[in-house]
Amino acid sequence: MKEVKVGAEYSDDLIQLDYIGDLGMSEMIGLMRLHVQEVTRFTTLIAHKLTLNKKQWLEFKADCESYQINPDPFITEVDETQYHFSTLGIFLLKICAKVHDIGKPLFRSIYRLERSLTDEEFNRQKLHADLTRMIVCSLLLDQRYQWKEPQLVKMVADCAAAHQEKMDGSGYPDGAKGTEIPLIGRLLAISDALSAIINPRPYQKETPLVTAIEWITRDRGSHFDPQLLDGAIAVIQQERYSAQRFSGSWEKEAGFTQEYSDMLNNISAVEIDGASSKLLTANKRALMLLNGMIAESLVEKTLA
Ligand SMILES: [Fe+2]
Repeated sequence: MKEVKVGAEYSDDLIQLDYIGDLGMSEMIGLMRLHVQEVTRFTTLIAHKLTLNKKQWLEFKADCESYQINPDPFITEVDETQYHFSTLGIFLLKICAKVHDIGKPLFRSIYRLERSLTDEEFNRQKLHADLTRMIVCSLLLDQRYQWKEPQLVKMVADCAAAHQEKMDGSGYPDGAKGTEIPLIGRLLAISDALSAIINPRPYQKETPLVTAIEWITRDRGSHFDPQLLDGAIAVIQQERYSAQRFSGSWEKEAGFTQEYSDMLNNISAVEIDGASSKLLTANKRALMLLNGMIAESLVEKTLA
């Protein structure tokens, strides 16, 4: 008889992946870390508030099923035409966001440059998406992780790497088009771009969220999934307006309402699991070493 998965099978793996996301972040400093935190916040906020229509639900379902993952625990049905991500679904998206740039620290020297990148540098840093996928997949090789659903780890790896894909197929790492890009990847592309635009860079001043929204709207359809973009922007604008009483920093603008903070706190409560965090702390050094080795050899191979 086919085993029906109800979600509990996924929680342990997600807790481990979430911790790995934290480890990845501990390898990052300055703007790179700020960016990952920000993309995680945007993505979690969007995942919390976004209403998916039937078509989007079917797309998400197809993504999950291509990995033999049961999509049901990740979605809550509002009625027959509207769906929300469940708490587990929000957690899944949060993790994909947290690990989306885990391949980046290797390109630190490029990201530290106080000028725009040359074509060669830009092309070299493009590898970070593939490295993200490799690093997350490499976790499957570590016997000390007792993954219950290795397919879920693969799905997270692919969704995270897909944050650089574009709807018209001109993105990377795979040049995937439209719904070939997993729905989570299409959402990450939106929060990734928002964060990239609003942040100051060595060669660019910080841009207000309102302007960032205008800019990404220009790429509606070519870069970003049109319906997801509309939904995501509506969420961010709605949150931003309700957060206006905290004037000042973009962090507040990006949705630090009480409700959102409470929701994040609740999710953190799920992550703090005594047994798992002990196991993971013991693995930290080994994991970093393993990831570093795989990442370095891949870069060497690609640059050779
Ligand atoms: Fe990013």
